[in-house]
Amino acid sequence: MVLETVRPLRLGVNIDHVATLRNARGGRDPDPLRAAQMAIDAGADGITAHLREDRRHIVDADIARLAHEIARPLNLEMAATDEMVAIALRTAPHAVCLVPENRAERTTEGGLDVVGGEARLAVPVGLMRDSGIRVSLFVEPDPRQLDVARKLGAAVVELHTGRYCDLVAAGDGEAAEAELRRLTEAAAYGEEIGLEVHAGHGISFETVAAIAAVPQVVELNIGHFLVGEAVFVGLATAIGEMRARMDAARAEAAAGERP
Ligand code: PXP
Repeated sequence: MVLETVRPLRLGVNIDHVATLRNARGGRDPDPLRAAQMAIDAGADGITAHLREDRRHIVDADIARLAHEIARPLNLEMAATDEMVAIALRTAPHAVCLVPENRAERTTEGGLDVVGGEARLAVPVGLMRDSGIRVSLFVEPDPRQLDVARKLGAAVVELHTGRYCDLVAAGDGEAAEAELRRLTEAAAYGEEIGLEVHAGHGISFETVAAIAAVPQVVELNIGHFLVGEAVFVGLATAIGEMRARMDAARAEAAAGERP
C-alpha cells in the first residue's frame, strides 16, 4: 500500500567539524563555507552550524559568512543565552535550533529540558519567533517535552537520536528497537499536536535508514559521521551516499515494504 502523503525528507548537513579541523591548526583551512557550498552541490537541502559559547569550532565570522553566502537555509544551533539570542536576531538565519550546552561536554549530550526550562525559554523563543526565525527545540523523544514545546510556540522539534545510534553501535538490538519505538511514537505525537518534526545526532550510514523511515520526520541533521567519512571518500561522495540511503529508506517505507 502506498501512503497518500509521503512527506519529503530534507537533509541538513552540519559542518561544525570542518571548523574543528581548521581550528586544530588555526588559520583558514579547511573552510566551513567551502564545505557548505560543496554539501549543497552534493544534495544538502540546508546547512546547520552550532555556535557554541566557547567557540570551539564554528566562530562568529563563520555564521556571518554562511548567512550571507550560502544558497540554502541556514539552521543555527545555539544555547538560549542572551548573547546567542542577540546574535540570532542580528543574523536572522532561516531557523534556530535551541540546544542545551554544557562546557565540559564533547557534544550535545541530551535534549533540552523544555519542561523544567519553560519559564527561561519563553522569552528567547518569543523574541526569535516574532522576528520571523523558525524556532526548533532539540528534545528527547518524550511527549511531555513536545507538549511544552508546542505551548512555548516553537514551530519545530528536533528529536535527539543519539541514544538510538549509541545503542545500535553497542550492538544492543533490543534496547535500540525500544528507543526507535520511542522516536517513532514521539514523531507521530509531535505531528499530531502541530509540530514539524526533525531528527538528528549520531546518525551514520548504519542508522539512517530506520530514522528516515519514520514518516513524520521531515528533516535529518547530520554532521560528525559525514565529516569523518569525508576523510576516506571525500565530502561530496559521503553526502551523496547518505542522501541515497535516506531517500531509499523513505521510499521503501512509503511503499509499505518496511515494518
Ligand atoms: N542536531 C543537533 C541539535 C545537534 O546538536 C547536533 C550536533 O551538533 C547534530 C544534529 C548533529 O549531530 P552529529 O554531528 O552527531 O551528526
